[in-house]
Formats: sequence, structure tokens, C-alpha cells
Amino acid sequence: MEEVLQASAALTEYRHTMNPGLSPLGERWIPRDPRSVASARRFVRDVALDWNAAEGIPEIAELLASELVTNALAYGSRDVGVPGPVRVTVGRERELLVVDVCDSCIMVPRLRRAGDLETSGRGLAIVRDLSRNWGWTLNPYGKSVWFQLEAWP
Ligand SMILES: Nc1ncnc2c1ncn2[C@@H]1O[C@H](COP(=O)(O)OP(=O)(O)OP(=O)(O)O)[C@@H](O)[C@H]1O
Ligand SMILES: [Mg+2]
Repeated sequence: MEEVLQASAALTEYRHTMNPGLSPLGERWIPRDPRSVASARRFVRDVALDWNAAEGIPEIAELLASELVTNALAYGSRDVGVPGPVRVTVGRERELLVVDVCDSCIMVPRLRRAGDLETSGRGLAIVRDLSRNWGWTLNPYGKSVWFQLEAWP
């Protein structure tokens, strides 16, 4: 809990100055534990369903969020002494559902070109291909990786 309060304080001021057009629909801090991925998936899907996102969008949001949260747990602590928790937020910006996964590491994601025989390296390519837009943003806590889906056309 203490970790979340500290992390949240680092982001508070920043949050109010960033992206004024974004309405928050939900936020969840998850511990660095593999069990968190399932809980994050359910959270993102439920928020999209509760806000009547278009057909198929809750499932795509869940899949893409799963990729980003898995990455945050796998790589989002590489340059930090004591890695902090991961924050998942879901918001709305006009017709777009925006999912943002924030971890405490400032190393940014790199889209890989996985070869035919490679069994990994496709997560971000899936996020790029299925989203309207995706990207990453550095912030005072670390960085966010986010994607947008057209949920309310
Ligand atoms: N949150 C993150 N923090 C730091 N680096 C990241 C983060 N997410 C991704 N990366 C970097 O970007 C690379 C590409 O990520 P991507 O999800 O496409 O592939 P992968 O995780 O290596 O494999 P797969 O997702 O197919 O299991 C990762 O190998 C990692 O080096
Ligand atoms: Mg991955």
C-alpha cells in the first residue's frame, strides 16, 4: 500500500497537466506478481463493458492490455533498484478507449521484428496492428505504454 501511495504521489501533478481531453474511467495498481496479469485483463475488459464499448472492443482491449502488462512485469524493472507496482488506467478520449500501462522503469519498449522461427517478440506488433494508435510516454514515475481503440464510433 505504501508503495502505491508513493508512486501515485509521483504521478499526481503530472496527471493533471497531461491530456486534458482524457476522461478517466478506471485505474488499478497491481503488484509485481504473475497473478496480476489475469486481474488486469478482467479489469480492462470490465471497464470497457461497463461503458458500452462497441462489440468486440472489450475483448481486444483485454488482449492488448495483457501484452502490455506482461511486458511491464517482465521488463519494467530493469534499471530500477526496487521496482514499483504497475498502474493500469482506462480512459475515454472522444470516440477512443485509451488503455495506459505505467511502470517504474525509464527504458522504453522496442518494437521487434521477430523472425519466422522466433517464438517471442510479437507482443508490441500485435498491439500496433490491432489498435488505432499506440506509443509510450516518459513520466516522473517511469513510463507509460498505451494504446487507443475506436470504442464509441
Ligand atoms: N514495459 C517495458 N519496459 C522496457 N522494455 C520493454 C517494455 N515492453 C517491451 N519492452 C522491450 O520491447 C521488446 C519488444 O516487446 P514485445 O512485447 O514485442 O516482445 P517480447 O515481450 O520480447 O515477446 P512476446 O511479447 O512475443 O512474448 C521487449 O523484448 C523489450 O526489450
Ligand atoms: Mg511482450
